[in-house]
Amino acid sequence: MTTDYNVIAEQYKQCKEHPWRARIETYSIMKRLGNLEGKKVLDVACGEGFYARKLRQCGACEVVGIDRSEAMIRLALDQESRHPLGIAYRVEDARTESARQEFDLAVSAWLLVYARSQDELLAMCRGLASRLKPGGRFLTFTGNPDLYAFTHADYRKYGFSITLTDCAYEGAPIVWTVYLDDSSFEIENYYLPMEAYETAFIEAGFHDFEVHVPEVSPHPQGVDDGTFWSDYLAHPPAVLIECVKK
Ligand SMILES: C[S@@+](CC[C@H](N)C(=O)[O-])C[C@H]1O[C@@H](n2cnc3c(N)ncnc32)[C@H](O)[C@@H]1O
Repeated sequence: MTTDYNVIAEQYKQCKEHPWRARIETYSIMKRLGNLEGKKVLDVACGEGFYARKLRQCGACEVVGIDRSEAMIRLALDQESRHPLGIAYRVEDARTESARQEFDLAVSAWLLVYARSQDELLAMCRGLASRLKPGGRFLTFTGNPDLYAFTHADYRKYGFSITLTDCAYEGAPIVWTVYLDDSSFEIENYYLPMEAYETAFIEAGFHDFEVHVPEVSPHPQGVDDGTFWSDYLAHPPAVLIECVKK
């Protein structure tokens, strides 16, 4: 099964409402990005524009979103026409290399998980490098290859579950079942070991490769979350990777 975002675009948009998206995913990304003032930023695999809008609202002077799914870009453009933020969206594959090294920063939530092989990953990394200025930074929120060690992790209370193959191998499918109020849908990601990510980024011309675990934000109303997030944080299904283009 290959995930077709032209089919699940609306459902995917709904699942961005799950609390872990704001409390962990968005919080961790935005905290690590820091000050965006004056930065020209690319949201790669922008989907319906969730992060593109966030980046612009948080001070980036120019934001461009690219995604290979026409349906996702349509949803992003629809939001842009209803609530204009001056974001440009284009249907574009991250693996296509650009002649213009124009961005200070490239951000991507859930792109690298679509690389099924080291070659495909390298193509993505080269595509990212081709769009960044020298010294430009890349930050991504992506699947955690350590998932295979988390045999007892249960993410159902966060609105998803993950099904793995018996053992990890290059390109092994990792299936996320995402639960909405009255339906569910599946997203297929692919396994590559962390060393493959580091190797691909270095080969594509990046350095300072770092991996970070996600964090949970303080509750917006100061409510004590108790142990609710413990399972996620003890067995993070996602990590942040960042590196800098030479
Ligand atoms: C899980 S969605 C994430 C969307 C958005 N980043 C977010 O967090 O809401 C993954 C997106 O990656 C896009 N995608 C996958 N492979 C891609 C590629 N090679 N180039 C551009 N977009 C890609 C899909 O079309 C889809 O919209």
